[in-house]
Amino acid sequence: MRIGILGAGGMADALGTQWARAGHEVLISGRDLARTTAQAVKMTAQAAAANAWDDTAAAQAARGGARDEPAEARAEQVGVRGGTWVEAAEFGEVVMVAVRQAGVADVLRAAGAATRGKPVIDVSNSEGPGVYDPTRPLAGLIRELTGGHVVKAFNLCHVDVWRMTPPVFDGRPLAVPLCGDDPAALSAVGTLVTDLGCTPVHGGGLDRAMLLEATAAFMIGLWFGGADAQAVLPPLARSGAHDPM
Ligand SMILES: NC(=O)c1ccc[n+]([C@@H]2O[C@H](COP(=O)([O-])OP(=O)(O)OC[C@H]3O[C@@H](n4cnc5c(N)ncnc54)[C@H](OP(=O)(O)O)[C@@H]3O)[C@@H](O)[C@H]2O)c1
Repeated sequence: MRIGILGAGGMADALGTQWARAGHEVLISGRDLARTTAQAVKMTAQAAAANAWDDTAAAQAARGGARDEPAEARAEQVGVRGGTWVEAAEFGEVVMVAVRQAGVADVLRAAGAATRGKPVIDVSNSEGPGVYDPTRPLAGLIRELTGGHVVKAFNLCHVDVWRMTPPVFDGRPLAVPLCGDDPAALSAVGTLVTDLGCTPVHGGGLDRAMLLEATAAFMIGLWFGGADAQAVLPPLARSGAHDPM
């Protein structure tokens, strides 16, 4: 898949590197082309090194632990490029919006019309605890400005979780809720979730994206207050969902 990323910060780095590693073509974009290109070079190196390490470990395991040179062939296949907002929007079969809230409107206007009708991943959250405005969902703004098939995803976890390969906690792969309306867009983003080693979870239509944004705001408030936010929810068997009516 060709993935255009609007953004060259932490989320672009974490998710873009994982997807490059999985064999997708990635183009990131930022305000400064030289800085963005340098970031793309870094991501390419990270993805290639991770693949070489995987191949070496797999080859070693197959030989019963004997050491060998890194398998550079697969490592060389990965590539991340840097470009402008317009180039990222045009390049992507899927476009991810990963810019700070303050820059979203300007960046999407600068990216132009190329996102129209495409799957658009929205990872955004409001800036900091206490800033979230439930009357103005970011996903709605992004749909309005891109004209794309927006899927809200990846906003519930800190960027370092998306660097994990794979994100598994207590033996369970991380589940990633997706909110969106377009079946093809949901399917494409579901594939990208699976490529991280995570499990996609259908979270309903894009009208429910505001609930994902509210959940992130609430959980971030708990985490910053030092609480174990994961502990506030019971397991499925105790959720009441299976109670006889
Ligand atoms: N970090 C996390 O743990 C995390 C987790 C979940 C969701 N998110 C959400 O993901 C989105 C991106 O976060 P991030 O951590 O990747 O942020 P980041 O590392 O600060 O990078 C943000 C990107 O936005 C661009 N940007 C920042 N301010 C801008 C402005 N005023 N105008 C235009 N562009 C601007 C930056 O451009 P330059 O490259 O030119 O500097 C950069 O490419 C945010 O909505 C955030 O809430 C973050």
